Amino acid sequence: MRNDDTSSPEPAFAHPHASAATPDAPGAAARRRVCVLGATGTIGRATVGALLRRGHEVVCFVRARAGVGGSLGPAESARLLDGATVRVVDPADAASLARDGFAGERFDAVVSCMASRTGAPKDAWAIDHRAHLNALDAARQAGVGHFVLLSAICVQKPLLAFQQAKLAFEAALIESGTRYSIVRPTAFFKSLSGQIERVRRGRPFLVFGDGTLTACKPIGDDDLADYIAGCLEDESRWNRILPIGGPGEAITPRQQGEVLFALLGRPPRFRSVPVALLDVIVGTLGALGRIAPSLAEKVELARIGRYYATESMLVLDPRTGRYDAAATPSTGTQTLFDFYRSVLAGAGAPERGDHAVF
Ligand SMILES: NC(=O)c1ccc[n+]([C@@H]2O[C@H](COP(=O)([O-])OP(=O)(O)OC[C@H]3O[C@@H](n4cnc5c(N)ncnc54)[C@H](OP(=O)(O)O)[C@@H]3O)[C@@H](O)[C@H]2O)c1
Repeated sequence: MRNDDTSSPEPAFAHPHASAATPDAPGAAARRRVCVLGATGTIGRATVGALLRRGHEVVCFVRARAGVGGSLGPAESARLLDGATVRVVDPADAASLARDGFAGERFDAVVSCMASRTGAPKDAWAIDHRAHLNALDAARQAGVGHFVLLSAICVQKPLLAFQQAKLAFEAALIESGTRYSIVRPTAFFKSLSGQIERVRRGRPFLVFGDGTLTACKPIGDDDLADYIAGCLEDESRWNRILPIGGPGEAITPRQQGEVLFALLGRPPRFRSVPVALLDVIVGTLGALGRIAPSLAEKVELARIGRYYATESMLVLDPRTGRYDAAATPSTGTQTLFDFYRSVLAGAGAPERGDHAVF
């Protein structure tokens, strides 16, 4: 465990993450000292790897109990983020950020992959907005010149609390005058993998409507991480909002099911769930929620489910109100169907986290 020893950073080549150094790894002059928030999450972990491969010095601020369900103590977090320095910090507490995190030291950049794990309104405003404001404030005091934010493409149509919280911080970041890169990815592989197990067990693939109501250009964790890390060097990504998807054509849920069955060598079987059923659930929970406020979180989770059943994760054309696959930029080489292949071949299902509804 390399814990908080910033005085003698290991050379990048000495670290396993660094073994596949990218061709565009910076020279010593471009090596930056980077603080990473949300390093213990799916994209945060991958991003730490991408930053290390590029030769940057990485300091991760992690919670005392991190990971899904708080399963990681500081030693486990440090093992997970091997090659980076790990500091225990509570980003919800401005004093902890300054004292335990930035600690009066100089940092060149902050990369935040931090986000509420549930998407529930209270948590979303506390983390996606308030904790980020704390971090921006502390970062500016630490002389940080560049803030890279992992956001989400769905904030284009902000109907949900967590989207509004993210947008509010995006606006604060833009207004701050600090150089920013706001990365708004499409859907992650883990969010499109929830039915692999049920289909493998012989059950039908569930779709809303006929399975073609939505589409997305799924992006792999490492491709997204590489894109995020590249924001530090690529000037075309500075002071920009950056929608980004993976390679290839946009894919509908029906196509996801068809490919899963084909990979298993079975004829496709779908079960259609009417969107109207989700409306009933949202409506009923909403009505009950007015009597029992403790249901508020469940109402929001149902609304999140309905949103993803009907909205595409593609660039939204504000003139037409339509999602536009051709206008959605692509990066990387990882495809969802290669990912399905590797999971079916035994690579293990991804950790889908607390808000698996995504
Ligand atoms: N899923 C998708 O398809 C998708 C698509 C586009 C965009 N996105 C966006 O991508 C972002 C990150 O996704 P992800 O899947 O990598 O997230 P994730 O795996 O849930 O990780 C979230 C990270 O934020 C940290 N965090 C959460 N609550 C915290 C708190 N109270 N204090 C400090 N840290 C906290 C977590 O730390 P702990 O380990 O301590 O909990 C973890 O490191 C989200 O903003 C999401 O909206 C997701």
